[in-house]
Amino acid sequence: MDVINEVKAMVWPKKRKLFTAGPVACFPEVLEAMKIQMFSHRSPEYRELHRDTTKRLAEFLEAKKSTVLLIPASGTGFMEASVRNAVSYGGKVLVTIIGAFGERYREVVEWNGRHAVVLKKNLGEPVLPEELDDALKKNPDVEAVTITYNETSTGVLNPLKELAKVAKERGKLVFVDAVSAMGAADIKVDDWGLDLVFASSQKAFGIPPGLAMAAVSEEFFEKAKNVPERGWYFDLLLYRKYLEEQWSTPSTPPIPQIIGLNVILRIIEKMGGKYSWLKMYEERAGKIRRHVIELNLELFAKPGYYSPTITVIKCPDGIDSTTIYDAMRRYGFEIAKGYGPVKKTTFRIGHMGYISDGDIEELFTTLKKVLDKLKSG
Ligand SMILES: Cc1ncc(COP(=O)(O)O)c(C=O)c1O
Repeated sequence: MDVINEVKAMVWPKKRKLFTAGPVACFPEVLEAMKIQMFSHRSPEYRELHRDTTKRLAEFLEAKKSTVLLIPASGTGFMEASVRNAVSYGGKVLVTIIGAFGERYREVVEWNGRHAVVLKKNLGEPVLPEELDDALKKNPDVEAVTITYNETSTGVLNPLKELAKVAKERGKLVFVDAVSAMGAADIKVDDWGLDLVFASSQKAFGIPPGLAMAAVSEEFFEKAKNVPERGWYFDLLLYRKYLEEQWSTPSTPPIPQIIGLNVILRIIEKMGGKYSWLKMYEERAGKIRRHVIELNLELFAKPGYYSPTITVIKCPDGIDSTTIYDAMRRYGFEIAKGYGPVKKTTFRIGHMGYISDGDIEELFTTLKKVLDKLKSG
């Protein structure tokens, strides 16, 4: 056991309560199940695990007509896959940007030899359906639209259902970065007409990193058939082939994370199903925002578009985000600094994963103490 303690001393010298943007604290049941001894990803046992997990996730996402894929990657893998599989080389994509992760999507589009047409909003604001409609009217030749459902750098939740409706009415493929939304904000894949909606394991499902999951529409696959040179690692038609033929993946999947996902989907079921679980997230986010307001702090996101997974807060005058972050760490809390252009002027409280009400109370008692001390110099 010495080696385990040696590693723990290296990565976890002080147990801190996690209020991060991810990786987040995992459910104890998830961590326990992930210790199961490994087995072949070509075995009947693995096939059953993969089949059962994709079935459960498809139910959660209301994705009967779409295909759920689990791939060994972080969420950004699916960003790359969306462009390489379903946009012609040199083709145009309308990238909506409300913060740093929308900017990343633009880079992914351009670095893969496609052309990004940008619809960019002021930080803190969502994209409105009429703005998207207007941009599509002006750019009828784009092949797809990208939407960040929950912008983790600003704490804004985009009105995804309405935006997807506009994009589908104009006949575009809809790619959704739901990395920090899936598992906490509602997603109805079929009803809302999402062609690719993806996430990472280390966010709202509270699983360690290493697994990316997505629901992919038939329309997406049909388009992919006509896009040559999709690459190998992120060829989603190849993933579908392995899924259909052997309930597995072309390369080795992160088996422990898939076990973790299966466990959390079962926990959700036992807690009363998808909507009870989403309510838990909504209530937790509401509680955190009330505490922020009680401390006379200002929320960064526009009212009405608050994120259910992360709260972005303006730093009080004269105090920068690293100072708050470092002080909170000294008191046993890992929060998140600002991200992107508002790195110094905002700080973030993540509310994904395994968090108790008691931890939230303690976090805000500590934050008050820290801010009072910093303000008094
Ligand atoms: C909205 C959003 N998109 C994409 C990413 C990148 O995800 P990953 O690190 O799993 O590739 C993140 C990570 O924080 C995110 O919050």
